[in-house]
Amino acid sequence: MKADSKPVAPAQAAPARGGFSSTLGALFATIGSAVGLGNIWKFPYLTGENGGAAFIIVYLLSTLLVGLPIMIAEIMLGRAAHANAIDTLRKLAPKKSFPWWIIGAMGALAAFLIMAFYSEVAGWVFAYIVKAFSGSILSTDPAVTSQGFTSLVSSPWLSLICQWVVLIVVSFVLIRGVSKGIEATTRRLIPILFVLLIIVGIRSVTLPGASQGLAFLFTPDFTKLTGDAVLIALGLAFFKLSIGMGTMITYGSYYRDDQNVPVSAIRAMGSDLLVSLLAGIAIFPAVFAFGYQPDAGASLLFITIPSVFASMPLGNIFMVVFFILAAIAAMGAMLSIMEVPIAYLSEQFSLSRTKATLITAGLLALIGSTAALSNSVLADVKVLGFTFFDLFDYLTSNIMLPIGGLLIAIFVGWVWGPEKIKSALTNQGALKNQGLVNVIIILLRYVTPLLVLVVLLDGLNLLPF
Ligand code: PHE
Repeated sequence: MKADSKPVAPAQAAPARGGFSSTLGALFATIGSAVGLGNIWKFPYLTGENGGAAFIIVYLLSTLLVGLPIMIAEIMLGRAAHANAIDTLRKLAPKKSFPWWIIGAMGALAAFLIMAFYSEVAGWVFAYIVKAFSGSILSTDPAVTSQGFTSLVSSPWLSLICQWVVLIVVSFVLIRGVSKGIEATTRRLIPILFVLLIIVGIRSVTLPGASQGLAFLFTPDFTKLTGDAVLIALGLAFFKLSIGMGTMITYGSYYRDDQNVPVSAIRAMGSDLLVSLLAGIAIFPAVFAFGYQPDAGASLLFITIPSVFASMPLGNIFMVVFFILAAIAAMGAMLSIMEVPIAYLSEQFSLSRTKATLITAGLLALIGSTAALSNSVLADVKVLGFTFFDLFDYLTSNIMLPIGGLLIAIFVGWVWGPEKIKSALTNQGALKNQGLVNVIIILLRYVTPLLVLVVLLDGLNLLPF
């Protein structure tokens, strides 16, 4: 045997990392991450608050011109390094350059902040499945459904317990591992989610008076669009595609080397968009058909929607179905948020998955309690005018994720460079997708960073004009 072809001794080999077992499994996990409360809770209420179709168009443009290129870039980086988000940037950045691993570190922080409020909303969704079964929130009078919601969120113990239940369920899946836990769960749940959503959607559009809701969704009125709304739409695009915080880097690190990254990302983005639109179609026609207002804000899902369901025949059954599908969506997303710190902790400190998961969940119970108690004991504690719940939400979607995404685009487009991108996205020339890759490179270098920068500065009122 020649000296240079010696096999690596097992003792020196990197410790085996988990990974997705198949291309399809990776795709389901990625869709599971993207599809979540962002589609079922945020997208409808933000669309309702910001005037409907015009907001959706800005959101669509943000998704295509900013979200998709960054999503592809992140999966590509993770796949190239096969490491957690922080180590991926450490490995791929040139020595003695800007400390790019900070993107990964900021991402891990964002993961905690997002999960802090996300697990609380997911907790309400879990609670609403029970409430929907018992029929206790089914009333056509929003004052009654509002009372039902307030009694839940203003109880400190109920809020904390909802959050803990969620953290325990999610941790249980995560401990089982990337393939047996995340992949197996999302693969089973995502198809069910689509079926349930289509059932509720058909019910909604076949109601008499549904057309007003469809017009709200699909006929744009740009006079309603503010600079603030543009930043919110961009932030939503980041949040929806789980980008700007290392989630897609981490999931990319579990992708197989022969997977077609751009095509998988496009499929995941398309599925995510479809679920958002289906959620809009399931909600707004029904809201308008029964004469409710679309601009209730964050409580749209928990106050308006139960009243809407109460107004329709067999509404109790549709409501149970609706909250189950919301819980399914939340589940896949939470797995991916928590995976960012779990992958880092287990690799950096050689911890078992179980230990890393328990530490992450414990920290989350602590940080998350500030969001969980934002409607009760901590309601009067304001930072920059926000409760903790609203602060974490605003700070992550509208500031941290866009900054993270901007840095990723700059790193990939200008530091890593076109040659390496070409090689990585064509699987070293094995895929014949040159044209697509060229478009992605142009977007990543010029269009994406510029758009994020302008919208971010404008949304924060930092532009001189
Ligand atoms: N994309 C998820 C949703 O729409 C939320 C999420 C954000 C997941 C960031 C991971 C990272 O609900």
